[in-house]
Amino acid sequence: MCGIVGYVGTKKATPILINGLLSLEYRGYDSAGIATIENKKIIVKKDKGRVNNLYNLDGINNLNGTIGIAHTRWATHGKPSKENSHPHMDNSQNFAVVHNGIIENYRKLKDFLISKGYSFLSETDTEVIPNLIDYYFKNGVHIHEDKFLSSVKLAVGDLEGSYAIEVISPLFPDEIIVVRKNSPLVVGKANGENFVASDIPAILSYTKNFYLLDDNEFGVVSKDNIKFFDNNLKQYEKNLKNIEWDASSAEKEGFEDFMLKEIFEQPNSIRETIGSRFSLGKPCVFDDLDISKEYLSSINKIYIVACGTAMYAGLAGKTVLEKLCKIPVTVDIASEFRYRNPLIDDKTLCIYISQSGETADTIAALKLAKLNGAKTIAISNVIGSSITREADYSIYTHAGPEIAVASTKAYTSQIVLLSILAMHFAELLGSCPLNEIENLKSDILDLPSKVQTILDDTTKIQDFAKQVYTQKDMFFLGRGTDYAVALEGSLKLKEISYIHSEAYAAGELKHGPIALIENNVVVIGIITDEKLVEKSISNLQEVITRGAKTLVITNQNIPNSHFDFVINIPKTDSVISPVLSVIPLQLLAYYISKNKGLDVDKPRNLAKSVTVE
Ligand code: AGP
Ligand code: GLU
Repeated sequence: MCGIVGYVGTKKATPILINGLLSLEYRGYDSAGIATIENKKIIVKKDKGRVNNLYNLDGINNLNGTIGIAHTRWATHGKPSKENSHPHMDNSQNFAVVHNGIIENYRKLKDFLISKGYSFLSETDTEVIPNLIDYYFKNGVHIHEDKFLSSVKLAVGDLEGSYAIEVISPLFPDEIIVVRKNSPLVVGKANGENFVASDIPAILSYTKNFYLLDDNEFGVVSKDNIKFFDNNLKQYEKNLKNIEWDASSAEKEGFEDFMLKEIFEQPNSIRETIGSRFSLGKPCVFDDLDISKEYLSSINKIYIVACGTAMYAGLAGKTVLEKLCKIPVTVDIASEFRYRNPLIDDKTLCIYISQSGETADTIAALKLAKLNGAKTIAISNVIGSSITREADYSIYTHAGPEIAVASTKAYTSQIVLLSILAMHFAELLGSCPLNEIENLKSDILDLPSKVQTILDDTTKIQDFAKQVYTQKDMFFLGRGTDYAVALEGSLKLKEISYIHSEAYAAGELKHGPIALIENNVVVIGIITDEKLVEKSISNLQEVITRGAKTLVITNQNIPNSHFDFVINIPKTDSVISPVLSVIPLQLLAYYISKNKGLDVDKPRNLAKSVTVE
């Protein structure tokens, strides 16, 4: 999920590779490594930690190889460590591979390779790739005269998941083979030397001419030649693109800000969160969560504990867990939980959500629960983060690094993961009819394309943002899960636009806050639960009567004429509707902030991870 660089030419590859990795640092990573070919052998140098540390590795400065591959790793399988860092080699050291992404079926492939006598040095999913290439190199029925390319193609044919891959081999010392699926990869063309990178900034200082690799395309990159092949290894011509980006817009892959990039990444990040955890007609699988039916039957309550956006994701998760598992769930703010002597014992399950895995209050709240005999599960986006080292079990959102301070893709992935966890528990407990779980599975699988539909047209939201960005106050109203998402929408707005806003359960309005409604105050209503439509409309009617300007986000047929703006979003099960209804709210906060000319990615007074109380 992080960075890849490749070089083939006449210069020493190592400094070019390390420079490339340095330009990819902004993507976030935990380890770095390179491989080059010297005297017909692959040499690998790698370690956990910063890219700059590579310069301190023994012998790295004496490497003369003029071909090489490089990687920054953002761990998804196996903690950050030297062994788990890339590049990885096959057992005969004929192939070195760097990989970004996740191989979902790696366990099956690993078992197959072990049965064929292969052994493994790392905990990564990636290490199956070089060994599979070697296996096919020796045993495959080759479909192309270039046996190297043919072996990579046969190996990739077995992979499920997402990948951007580079491979080198001392048996073919002039070529880098590249292929991708759902992970970015570009090939840069220059004179007598060529480059590979997971995005443009890594090599923008060397060339402005790029081939943007598509899914399932293979590239064979040598010093003077770049050849492309389709999935049947039929060669074809590809258009060369001249990119005039400056380095900073390139880092953001053409998006103006990381936050916008991350909002638009959500179809893919949700796909990664789902991964191979379930498919229709099959029970949910959590590899690292050894929770039994007996244990689940013995607990009498669940706490979900977190801060900020992660806590709001917990609120959405509460609904789905209670509905499917019939166990009471309390959502708590970590800094409150840890100081109020919560009732915890061995019949309590505590779930902690933290994108960064480093939030001090959330970690302390987890330690407290362990001391009192509860089992703990951490939901994090960062493998090996502090919270995952403390928890009894850790499960990962796999949303990819989140750079912008305001959390977006982590939130949607957290809700999706909580929903899959709820389905898993319900399947173990038998607490919910299987057809209901099947329907929810199908709705979850449809989320990426429905998120994409919302992202495909943002004009209405941009128009609304233009009309309201000078406001001083805004209100967000909703009932049920729409209230949970109202809280998150309001937090997003506060964080990056500095506009004061409040989120209320729509029914609470007339118990006080309605006193604040006057002419032109902006009220944003979220209506996605069929059973609550009429009631929510009535609450909005109350503010319209008092002069409010209204925006409604809905998947229901509501009378548009009542409201100033209506954003229609696709229908889904109301327990997961926050994953869709939050998208216009994220965009609204974003465009309001842009209209105000603010720094979206680094809002004042805020830090990406809050490691102090
Ligand atoms: C989200 O936009 C915020 N920046 C903040 O509320 C954040 O969600 C909170 O600090 C928790 O962070 P964590 O998920 O890394 O623990
Ligand atoms: N899944 C691989 C690993 O954990 C690659 C991670 C990445 O994209 O950096 O090593």
